[in-house]
Amino acid sequence: MDTTTTIVIFGISGDLAQRKLIPALFNLFQKDRLKGNFNIVGFAGRSWTDLELRKIAREGIDKFAGFQVNNEKWREFENQLHYISGKFQDENSFVHLANTLENLENGSANRVFYLATPPNFFTDIIVNLGKSGQIEEENGWRRVVIEKPFGTDLESAKKLNHDILKVLREDQIYRIDHYLGKETVQNILIARFANTIFEPVWNRNYISNVQITVAEKVGLEHRAGYYDTVGVVRDMFQNHLLQLLSLVSMEPPASHKANDQRDEKVKVLKAIRRISQAEVHKHSVLGQYRGYKEEDGVALNSQTPTYAAIQFFIDNWRWEGVPFYLRSGKKMAEKISEIVIQFKRPPHLMFPLPESYSFTTNTLSLCLQPDEGIHLKFETKVPDTIAETKSVDLEYHYKDVFGNNAIPEAYERLLLDALLGDAALFTRSDRSELAWEILDPFINTWEDATKSPLAIYDPGSWGPKQSDDLLARDGYQWMRGCGNH
Ligand code: BG6
Repeated sequence: MDTTTTIVIFGISGDLAQRKLIPALFNLFQKDRLKGNFNIVGFAGRSWTDLELRKIAREGIDKFAGFQVNNEKWREFENQLHYISGKFQDENSFVHLANTLENLENGSANRVFYLATPPNFFTDIIVNLGKSGQIEEENGWRRVVIEKPFGTDLESAKKLNHDILKVLREDQIYRIDHYLGKETVQNILIARFANTIFEPVWNRNYISNVQITVAEKVGLEHRAGYYDTVGVVRDMFQNHLLQLLSLVSMEPPASHKANDQRDEKVKVLKAIRRISQAEVHKHSVLGQYRGYKEEDGVALNSQTPTYAAIQFFIDNWRWEGVPFYLRSGKKMAEKISEIVIQFKRPPHLMFPLPESYSFTTNTLSLCLQPDEGIHLKFETKVPDTIAETKSVDLEYHYKDVFGNNAIPEAYERLLLDALLGDAALFTRSDRSELAWEILDPFINTWEDATKSPLAIYDPGSWGPKQSDDLLARDGYQWMRGCGNH
């Protein structure tokens, strides 16, 4: 008989479930990747029925999913969708959940509990799952996926880890970072370690600096209640940007196994130079877009940064002295995520170039989104000149090779991995704490408006001018390696 798997989504009435989780689960189902019998049980406060959940789920797919829906498959899928109305802090609701699951499963079953709720409920939910006996593994494995943000600083992340590790083993916990589920983010390790041509030059001898940009055009999108309490460093740097930095800078893992990969990520985070509060201004610029304080739900005197640029150094043999510049912001000129690796100048130029000649160094750009691919910029001779050079691009675009719809939503891969028990693309407790340890001085310093006034930038721009100065001081400028430049 096929094994039964139950996926319980806490907070199913929220945006994330409707936009991402249910569409991802359905697409896995219609691609025949959800094996065996399965149930999807939504748990939230509203008094919905199964039918209402199914209707809202379908609306979400029609509105947000980029794939074709096979209606026959949908009818099969929706019959497995169930709803339970309950409270995250109420033990009785969890007893009700346990009973409902047992009735649905009718025998042994594996269970994934997905916490898509506001973070202040994470501990309560896990404690209540424990108390109602739902973490015990006599009748199948039990796993818990936890959405971000995982804590708000080092202390709260430590406490959260401490509290949930009283109920769960580390290998039952899947802390999610949807950036790790993106194809192009997974491709960073393939580009580095499935090729021989890049790795020999991937170090301080050939690379002058590395730039990571995750820019968004959108602003708050009705999330002021959440965003105004966190800001860009907690929302984007602690997870997505520091993960990108780790992938681009870590040593080759011993194997593809989860803990071998996570060990290397942790090792490189340990090597990131710690910046004291006294030095924070030298290494960072935090900003807020003009008009942010007037947005609905934002505090009138809000000191929440919507933009940050931070310079990091990694103190190890590979990277000593190479600056890593990371930036991210809302309401910027374009939506683009890219990593630009700038190489050093050739040691000697023997060409008869005019003195004023400004030489462009090579760049390798990993284009994460929206036009996924890799670009390599190098110099070529301009025809019919003695030795004039021009920068040209070698470009690889996913869409040219794999077609327009080849890239699945990040959540598909992550949900599947959680079901398969592969935690490589999830965050281990030590990584999560190290990331806070690195960022806490920045967060603390910039939270004091009297000492650190935020730099104001215009919506639709590339962020505050001061962030250009951060690089200009070292002789660099922000580069755009992807798209049409
Ligand atoms: C989320 C942040 O983690 O990532 C959002 O909370 C942000 O504020 C989003 O908009 C960006 O994700 P993506 O996949 O659109 O780059």
